[in-house]
Amino acid sequence: LEIYLRGLAGERPELPVTYDELEVAARGAMTAEAFAYVAGGAGSERTLRANRAAFDRWRLVPRMLRSVTDRELSTEVLGTPMAAPVLLAPVGTASVIHPDAERAQARAAADLGLASVLSTAASTSMEEVAAAAPEANRWFQLYWPNDPELAESLVRRAERAGYRAIVVTVDTWTMAWRPRDLALGHLPFLHGHGLANYFSDPVFRSRLAAPPESGPEARRAAILAFTGLFGNPSLSWSDLATLRSWTTLPVLVKGVCHPDDARAALDAGADGVVVSNHGGRQVDGARAALDCLVDVADAVAARGPVLFDSGIRSGADVLVALALGADAVLVGRLWAFGLALAGHRGVVHAMRALLAELDLTMALAGYRSPADLDRRALAFER
Ligand code: FNR
Repeated sequence: LEIYLRGLAGERPELPVTYDELEVAARGAMTAEAFAYVAGGAGSERTLRANRAAFDRWRLVPRMLRSVTDRELSTEVLGTPMAAPVLLAPVGTASVIHPDAERAQARAAADLGLASVLSTAASTSMEEVAAAAPEANRWFQLYWPNDPELAESLVRRAERAGYRAIVVTVDTWTMAWRPRDLALGHLPFLHGHGLANYFSDPVFRSRLAAPPESGPEARRAAILAFTGLFGNPSLSWSDLATLRSWTTLPVLVKGVCHPDDARAALDAGADGVVVSNHGGRQVDGARAALDCLVDVADAVAARGPVLFDSGIRSGADVLVALALGADAVLVGRLWAFGLALAGHRGVVHAMRALLAELDLTMALAGYRSPADLDRRALAFER
């Protein structure tokens, strides 16, 4: 209605309302390097495309005359209330996109009552983000470094700073083969983006000969130290117990594709899983995340929440994922493109458009709340 009323007054929406147009506009607002980093995927980008193609095979079958005046999008996941089952996914090194970076992410989440997941590889420290959006429902995403004391320090800081869950990402102990980044010779970390949680960490700082801010050489050494500590390929499921011992917060495992891994995560003490192939950025040729969701949701049954991401572009996509068994979804590139276009305002805009389409499509399809949705809402088209 807001958009139509503005149209009546001769105003067009200031920013695009579809993902594809947001992406085109964002491309014009970003450096070629930043755009390649955000939009790109691993290898030949087969999985990036498969994530989208999977959504095209599921169709909603709308139901009529079901009294949909009173609708409810709000939900709660592991004790965190959310105005809608949509979270802002962790997107690292956001200062390469816009200087507002992760502050804009958390502020937008606070404005809309959504939950927001801050990346370990953020350009703003978790304490600064907490101070910028104290009322936001914030979760912290852990890239588990190969220094156990540093890993513990990051988790304990997140709990102290008011983050309400730990999302441990298990699919990215190193960056994948990403030709777009390789072609441009650009990795945001090497240019100093995404290091705030490390540079502000007492354990990390204790590993350095000199503080990163003491001069260009020290900064360079700190960046190199970061690259040496970033990932941990030796982790196994039994390590989740160690993570549990560091925090009383709920723990979710992000990057689960196989149903056996979902079972392993829960058996190892995780409270929930995030079905995700990192937006097609890690294993090229991996199965579409949406296709994995069906099997994972069946394997998890009612043992814990199943969240989903990778390929959500619209409110209708959110509905499909919810109907296939997701308790909530995360979106990454969508908010990142909003950020590129207009900082905090752009993130709010992109998320509001998604939520408006979700609400409208849900109602027009005959559902009053996400809880009413199940696979009977869908038909599979070969
Ligand atoms: C990501 N993603 C990500 N995930 C994570 O756990 N930690 C991180 O730091 C990042 N960083 C990151 C940067 C950029 C530029 C993108 C696009 C993505 C993955 C992200 O959380 C999410 O899984 C995907 O973005 C979901 O796919 P869509 O919504 O982008 O299709």
